[in-house]
Amino acid sequence: MTDQGSPRSRGNNLDPWYNHYAQRTSGLAASEVRALFAVASRPEVVSLAGGMPFVSALPEDLVVGAMDRVMREQGPVALQYGSGQGVPALREQILDVMALEGISGSADDVVVTTGSQHALELFSKLFLDPGDVVLAEGPSYVTAMVIFKSYQAEVDHVPMDENGMIPEALREHIARLKADGRRVKFLYTVPTFHNPAGVTLSWERRLEILEIARQNDILVLEDNPYGLLYFGEKPPAAMRSVEREGVVYLGTFSKTLAPGFRVGWALAPHAIREKLILANEAAVLSPSSFSQLVVSQYLSDADWKAQIDTFRGVYRERKETMISALQEHLPDLSWTDPNGGFYVWLTLPPHLDSKAMLPRAVTELVAYTPGTAFYADGSGRHNMRLSFCYPTPESIRVGIRRLATVINGETDLLETFAGTGLLSSVRADRTSNNLPTDLR
Ligand SMILES: Cc1ncc(COP(=O)(O)O)c(C=O)c1O
Repeated sequence: MTDQGSPRSRGNNLDPWYNHYAQRTSGLAASEVRALFAVASRPEVVSLAGGMPFVSALPEDLVVGAMDRVMREQGPVALQYGSGQGVPALREQILDVMALEGISGSADDVVVTTGSQHALELFSKLFLDPGDVVLAEGPSYVTAMVIFKSYQAEVDHVPMDENGMIPEALREHIARLKADGRRVKFLYTVPTFHNPAGVTLSWERRLEILEIARQNDILVLEDNPYGLLYFGEKPPAAMRSVEREGVVYLGTFSKTLAPGFRVGWALAPHAIREKLILANEAAVLSPSSFSQLVVSQYLSDADWKAQIDTFRGVYRERKETMISALQEHLPDLSWTDPNGGFYVWLTLPPHLDSKAMLPRAVTELVAYTPGTAFYADGSGRHNMRLSFCYPTPESIRVGIRRLATVINGETDLLETFAGTGLLSSVRADRTSNNLPTDLR
């Protein structure tokens, strides 16, 4: 029997429903990061690819104790649906967390979400129409761009340097987009310990960028998962600390506690907060009561600031290990040297392509994320993101040594075949730990 002529025959061999999907799903393809998780999870591969927090640094009894108390004292509430805005006590505690980054606000303007990822989704759903433009750093957080794309918006990358987004470039981009008749809906930024670039927006630039946004009537979406994970000096206060009406701020417990709870939040101007609650209810009815109560109990009972200090120490040691291994094994290359967070952004010689090189790297048992994952426009071939958050210092050393074997091997191969002095320009280009020029 044949089903020729039936709607399904217009699909393809892999998916008979291919033609039924909404148009906005056309950009939904597995990212490099996602595809890598499968490969990199093999135990013999040192993965410098994913951004998984090192949850083993969290004493198990702290979590078990909080869960136990929640179930004994508030079991029926924890197992029930809750409010679409989130548990009131937790929203009050979130104010204490944000105060550490200079933010003051009302618990009434906090909306608890299923990780900050879900806040990104809800915010995009509220603001993006097809054809809208989102301004974002170049490079930018890959899974935010996946969401923007799913609402058929375009990402316009504003260049960065070692002090984060360049205000003058932002002005130019806005002017060009306006001249082209494009509608800029918001500016998405990860100002502190940027994912993937590792850099931090200076205080002066924070003020300047807020002023540019104000002048141009552009809302700022400040995504700050890493701000409390600093290695030395505290980073500048959050942008939201000086701008209430023009900033929607996103926070999360994923990096300072554990991502498994899936508890994040948005702090928004009152009218936007109202819409976020409605969107949250429409999407999930209520964020998990159980997770919220456990996080709240943990914040009440445990010394959570000391625990964040522990995480800082773990990540600082790993970052230092990665930087010293890079200095030892790949001294001719350049990379960022972050003061916090999870990521180093590496720049390859111009003749190497991080995406094309990845299969060889995996053969050598090391994985990274190619720079192209972090651009909507195909840039980033000469960059890669290296995560130091999850592997042990010993694994990081091994991983960088293997990476050097791959990079040097590729370079030798090219030199041999080209028979020219291809590398001379690279060596002349040798820089310190500053942000590579092609990020500017
Ligand atoms: C910049 C940025 N935003 C948002 C998220 C999402 O975090 P979560 O949903 O776990 O809160 C991440 C996770 O890595 C991130 O790096």
